[in-house]
Amino acid sequence: MAPPMTLPNDLKNNECYLHWREEKLTGYPANIDELMVNVDDPSAPNGQQIEALVDKCRKSNMAIYVGPEQIIEDKNIPINLGASLGLKQVDGSLTTEGDGVSELAVADNGEKSAYIPYTDKPLGWHTDGCYNDADHLVHGFLLHCVRAAPKGGENFLLDPEIAYILLRDEDPDFIDGLMQPNALTIPANIENGKVIRAEQIGPALSINPTINALHLRYTGRKTYVTWLDDPRIKEALEFLQLILNNDTKYVFRVKLKPGSGLVGNNVLHGRTKFYDGEDPETKRLFYRIYYLDRITNT
Ligand SMILES: [Fe+2]
Repeated sequence: MAPPMTLPNDLKNNECYLHWREEKLTGYPANIDELMVNVDDPSAPNGQQIEALVDKCRKSNMAIYVGPEQIIEDKNIPINLGASLGLKQVDGSLTTEGDGVSELAVADNGEKSAYIPYTDKPLGWHTDGCYNDADHLVHGFLLHCVRAAPKGGENFLLDPEIAYILLRDEDPDFIDGLMQPNALTIPANIENGKVIRAEQIGPALSINPTINALHLRYTGRKTYVTWLDDPRIKEALEFLQLILNNDTKYVFRVKLKPGSGLVGNNVLHGRTKFYDGEDPETKRLFYRIYYLDRITNT
């Protein structure tokens, strides 16, 4: 089977866009099961499994690897799996350990507990690394489930190329608005009067023609974020929220099991609130890695 066509670099050209759009939507996965690949050892996927995962990422910008359901605390599992898909440029966030793997679990106290990923609260729609500069955009990510909570902790997902299509079909001006170089500002992160992360101003939507990548910076949160005051952006965001909050057929939902994970090209995502159990084995733990690479650059 020929690999699905990658994003053309001249999306401004409507004919080219329509051709890409048709190919993108033809045979697009109808449900989350179509994104799944069984992998008997996620720390060492075989060639066939790697190819299947890459193919799914080419089509949908994401894939789910389903490993044997068991609890193994080993960060080498996601590191090796990511590397086998060509993800090697690990990016760190403020709360990432030296190896680039963040351990997402409920942190009762300490600096991490100030960040929602380290709580059991719901996490709204966003893409990762909105505060990264243009030279360090997060293009890929991996989420590996070590332990799941007995209740909640479901992820919801939307391919940003689908979001692009839905926005452009509704009104091409939405795209122009979101592509403005100052569309989205994430203010500086200041702790005790000290800037620990600088303000970041950039487009919400951008296309990198050298790597055939559409990149989306988006966060649904209302605080610590400033959108450019422009009617096209305002309407685009309202429309996007409608898509995200109404579970269109393109929004996938999954509750990852221990030993399984999600790899993707920084798709729109979030998670529901979860409830840890009393037993240590029922306290949710996910490993997360951000990458500067994409999965589909071949
Ligand atoms: Fe995230």
